[in-house]
Amino acid sequence: MVKAGYRLLFLGGLLSWLCLASPATSELQRLQHRVKPDGSLSFLVVGDWGREGNYNQSEVASQMGVIGEKLDINFVISTGDNFYDCGLTGEDDPAFFKSFTDIYTAPSLQKPWYNVLGNHDYRGDVEAQLSPVLKEKHSKWVCFRSFILNAEIAEFFFVDTTPFVNEYFTDPRQYNYDWKGVEPRDEYLFNLVKDVDSALKASSAKWKIVVGHHTIKSAGQHGVTVELEKQLLPILEANDVDLYVNGHDHCLQHITSTDSDIQFITSGGGSQAWRGKISSWKPEEMKFYYDGQGFLSVNMTGDRADLVFYDVFGQVLHKWSISKQLHDAA
Ligand SMILES: *[C@@H]1O[C@H](CO)[C@@H](O)[C@H](O)[C@H]1NC(C)=O
Ligand SMILES: *[C@@H]1O[C@H](CO)[C@@H](O)[C@H](O)[C@H]1NC(C)=O
Repeated sequence: MVKAGYRLLFLGGLLSWLCLASPATSELQRLQHRVKPDGSLSFLVVGDWGREGNYNQSEVASQMGVIGEKLDINFVISTGDNFYDCGLTGEDDPAFFKSFTDIYTAPSLQKPWYNVLGNHDYRGDVEAQLSPVLKEKHSKWVCFRSFILNAEIAEFFFVDTTPFVNEYFTDPRQYNYDWKGVEPRDEYLFNLVKDVDSALKASSAKWKIVVGHHTIKSAGQHGVTVELEKQLLPILEANDVDLYVNGHDHCLQHITSTDSDIQFITSGGGSQAWRGKISSWKPEEMKFYYDGQGFLSVNMTGDRADLVFYDVFGQVLHKWSISKQLHDAA
């Protein structure tokens, strides 16, 4: 009996390993993160940060440390534009230390950082940010172009949004975008959209959270990214995504939708902010807009998520909850 039990366990383990490793449902890299012993999961979200501590980056970092400690966070999510102004020059670029490891020094932030790339990262050596060498330099650094993080109650779908934006190809101005690994672009985007769609369809997680650098709904300086609105949004709507989380606009923003239950969250206040350019937005969708620096915390269980935006002093700017039970009953 005991032996058979072990064999079953072993088989189960093997099967789940095979499922994880198999590209049958998706070509995207898959990672896993456990919930806390009480079944909850908490994390911080920051974007648009790497400026060697300037523009309040260090102040935001130290408050992230305080809140990270309070929530006993599992990890940090970066919504991209990790290194200004032009990404990293290579694996040896000292900006990795000056803008990342030397800044986010609080003990609570020594957790995995799940990063996506922003358009500024694409102006440098993209492969340097993806390189295992950086992970050797600092074990908390996790960066892929697009990947999936399964955290039991929640599944996160990190999407490389920069290649969607036409302007970077048609009018790159003085910048040299590093499109190695992206070209041919049509094929890259086609496969990415297909993989995200099938991974979302296959997901049985209670919460589906999509993370990208660029906005889908935003009243900020950059506004709506029309390419994502056209190519990515329909997939999110068709697959009951709960949250779309992005950076790009250097602000903190919470927008709901009259077309779906998706909530659109901008956390792009990691350093330079105060752009002073805000467009009007449907008041029934616009829940909160803050033009300055800060970050987001999320604490979730299987049926409830508590979200909080903080400013540079760690003061609560805006908080709200999402309940799954209510949501499912509705
Ligand atoms: C830093 O934050 C304070 C408080 O929000 C703000 O008054 C100040 O302008 C910010 N500094 C910069 C450079 O953005
Ligand atoms: C996270 O939320 C759960 C459920 O609401 C709660 O029990 C737990 O205390 C919260 N954790 C923190 C650190 O606030």
